[in-house]
Amino acid sequence: MRRIGVLTSGGDAPGMNAAIRAVVRTGIDRGLEVWGVRHGYHGILTGDVMPLGARDVGGIMQRGGTMLGTARCPDFKTDDGVARAVAELERHGLDAVVVIGGGGSQTGALSLSRRGVSVVGVASTIDNDLPGSDLTIGVDTALNVALEAIDRLRVTASSHRRAMLVEVMGRDCGYLALMAGIAGGAEAICIPEVPVDPERVADEIVQAYEKQKPHALVVVAEGARYDVAGLVAYFAEHQERLGFEVRTTILGHVQRGAAPTAADRLLGSRLGAAAVDTLLGGRHGVLCGIIDGRIATTPLAEVVGWNKPLPAEMLALANVLAR
Ligand code: ADP
Ligand code: F6P
Repeated sequence: MRRIGVLTSGGDAPGMNAAIRAVVRTGIDRGLEVWGVRHGYHGILTGDVMPLGARDVGGIMQRGGTMLGTARCPDFKTDDGVARAVAELERHGLDAVVVIGGGGSQTGALSLSRRGVSVVGVASTIDNDLPGSDLTIGVDTALNVALEAIDRLRVTASSHRRAMLVEVMGRDCGYLALMAGIAGGAEAICIPEVPVDPERVADEIVQAYEKQKPHALVVVAEGARYDVAGLVAYFAEHQERLGFEVRTTILGHVQRGAAPTAADRLLGSRLGAAAVDTLLGGRHGVLCGIIDGRIATTPLAEVVGWNKPLPAEMLALANVLAR
């Protein structure tokens, strides 16, 4: 193996830059040439690639986003797209690729692997929905951003005696909402994994009011059966029952843009370096993640299409603590 490529794909996640830097510097340390692919799979299809030296990745680790750019690339989802990508990789003499991204991106990596390309994935998404890694790059930062917002919302909610609905990202996964809800002291948490109807959420708000709490905080995952819009529509019809007036905030992409926390810089650095060493050790078609604090490699076929359950003990804790 002489030349490897590295790309970031799907939703950007704070800590991706640390992973890119680690791939480049570890690769160079081990005698490889490392090329960057811009804008994910789109960059493979368009030949948007460039050699990267150690200095090219200096000063990026503390920045959110990804210096390579990222993309959702529908073209790559087709058989024809994958075949063209394989040809482009050959044309540029790229012997292997490191794919830094979430579930969709690792599905793409598996397609490349099945066509004979040496690919290693690096688990990176704020959603934390990837089997094969207890935590993915970006989760810690996104969680801290959500938490900071929740803390602020609680201040204003308490001043006015209001209920606050806060919607956090996570696609179909409730991890961010569950953890932000526990750490933020929410009265109710709505996640896709545990569907609750608006009436139950209203009950929690009423109970908080009757207990003389100064506020009620409800953290809602964007993928929950009733998202913030659904809950607001219900509450509008039952305002007199709630006690609290209700306000809503959708955090959205704010959660993705922060400077990575120490935890995400370290995770990105570890997983990026591990990806290169995995390739050099002759393994590919696997995802590099972290399991029980250690680097773990899991076949992409055991990652893609599988669900990662939420920690049961945290689900139970959420119920106990919201009193
Ligand atoms: P994430 O990687 O953050 O989950 P996406 O789901 O948007 O983000 O996936 C990122 C990219 O991965 C897609 O735009 C596409 O190029 C590629 N991808 C997603 N699903 C597939 C698939 N089934 N087959 C091949 N490539 C895919
Ligand atoms: O996968 C990361 C994520 O931020 C999800 O939480 C969210 O559903 C989605 O990406 C938003 O995608 P986009 O940036 O394309 O709007």
